[in-house]
Amino acid sequence: MTDAIAILDFGSQYTPLIARRVREQHVYCELYAWDAPVERVLALRPKGFILSGGPASVYEPGAPTLPAYVLDSGLPVLGICYGMQLLAHNLGGAVAPSAKREYGPAVIEIQHSTFKISNSIFQALHLPSVKSDISNLQPPTSNLKLSVWMSHGDRIERLPPGFTILAHSDNSPIAAIGCAARNMYGLQFHPEVKHTPQGGEILRAFAVDVCGCAPTWTPDNIIEQSVAAIRAQVGEGQVVCGLSGGVDSAVTAALVHRAVGNQLTCIFVDTGLLRQAEGEQVVQTFHQALGIKLVAVHAVEEFLGTLHGVTDPAAKRKLIGEKFIRIFEREARKLGQINFLAQGTIYPDVIESAGTGRSGAAIIKHHHNVGGLPPDLGFKLVEPLRNLFKDQVRQVGQALGLPQRLLWRHPFPGPGLAVRILDEITWERLETLRAADAIFLHELETAGWYEQVAQAFAVLSPTTRSTGVAGDASKFGQTIILRAVVTDDYMTAAPAQLPYDLLTLVSARILNEVPNVTRVVYDLSTKPPATIEWL
Ligand code: XMP
Repeated sequence: MTDAIAILDFGSQYTPLIARRVREQHVYCELYAWDAPVERVLALRPKGFILSGGPASVYEPGAPTLPAYVLDSGLPVLGICYGMQLLAHNLGGAVAPSAKREYGPAVIEIQHSTFKISNSIFQALHLPSVKSDISNLQPPTSNLKLSVWMSHGDRIERLPPGFTILAHSDNSPIAAIGCAARNMYGLQFHPEVKHTPQGGEILRAFAVDVCGCAPTWTPDNIIEQSVAAIRAQVGEGQVVCGLSGGVDSAVTAALVHRAVGNQLTCIFVDTGLLRQAEGEQVVQTFHQALGIKLVAVHAVEEFLGTLHGVTDPAAKRKLIGEKFIRIFEREARKLGQINFLAQGTIYPDVIESAGTGRSGAAIIKHHHNVGGLPPDLGFKLVEPLRNLFKDQVRQVGQALGLPQRLLWRHPFPGPGLAVRILDEITWERLETLRAADAIFLHELETAGWYEQVAQAFAVLSPTTRSTGVAGDASKFGQTIILRAVVTDDYMTAAPAQLPYDLLTLVSARILNEVPNVTRVVYDLSTKPPATIEWL
């Protein structure tokens, strides 16, 4: 069983980041609601607990409390912000409420005496890169300064017995506390956010040095464990997997194939709403290069027929989703006895759809994705990626030999180009959009800009018509909108500041090479208030 840390969520917006940072240190961890059933949390057999921050104050009526099993376990505990107050409160310290909370950058000073404590959470910060030298290392004789993202909430007025102050700042006399004998630590700042540049090392020190977790949660180990788990689950059964052309379904298919080979059949539905050459690439990668059994369904006419006359975006999404499910079901039935459906649910989907488990809601990839779950098929789910963040999915994909181009592909909405044609969808309009989009993406790649933006695409407005001249004749053509955004999380986004030369080149090529387009514009809208897609 993998060494693991249990993170209890007390409601901070940053809690999922704690999981992310711990996993980046190759230590497995799981997030639980603070009031999750004890059996669920202990089933992980954690080697330590992290208590997250949260908006409450420990004295508030109804504020989340520290479950008794945490201290009863005798395992190491790291409390962050609210988690630290809780820890102090429960161990006999005194916490003073404060009227308002403040967050912001700060510099803390770690007391040099702190480094005399071996294996503490700050120990790693003053070590040279060669860790084996640890025994010969002299502790620094002056305080160590560290930039952090501070959160001033309640204040600790009196330390719990056995605890010492490990760090302070100008505004916070107690920025970090610890009791090395009991392996308990508290931080008033957030080690999980980017603004605490050495936060990853602090979390690693807690997980590895204090809790004793082996940092072995690497792509190769993940693959090995997943393969074993898939084999155990599937046995002699037959598995079907829908390929969308995206990263998650691709890595899922490759992983299941590694585990059960020909017991897996993939279904790829060509909706006609894909970008240029995407269908061929799926067949090439999965069937020809990886030798996976693949059923490629040509369903273009069916989709176009369904979408005939439809302009409303929500209606487009709904019709496409339903059609996809029907076709998938029909094709899966043709395969005979199928027992399992492999699905590319990843950890953020799990967190999004069911919080950290408080609701106990069914956890399925919930947005209207083409390639999403066909309901009522009676298949059991195989979800090998449900513990992985996107970057880990990519690392696993890379270790499985999937092409870089596929692994670093920008996100593409399930309903495809249907949400990028701002009117009724026709084959001719799809071809116009595909041609313009391919030129844009090709030039971005050539100029080295593709990786620097989070998402880039073309949108067609067939009804925004403008005059153009071609030779001696004038024509009244359609508009292509170029959109490229930078974002970390797709919740907020800014237009990419693409070089003017590049935009001019793309515009000139589209106007010259794509029939019926007489205008090219660049979208400068931020999200919010705009969204990334137009529909
Ligand atoms: P918005 O437009 O909401 O997009 O700012 C945020 C991210 O979600 C993608 N997106 C979708 N993905 N089905 C999907 O699978 C959809 O219907 C859908 N709509 C938007 C969008 O491309 C962006 O990455």
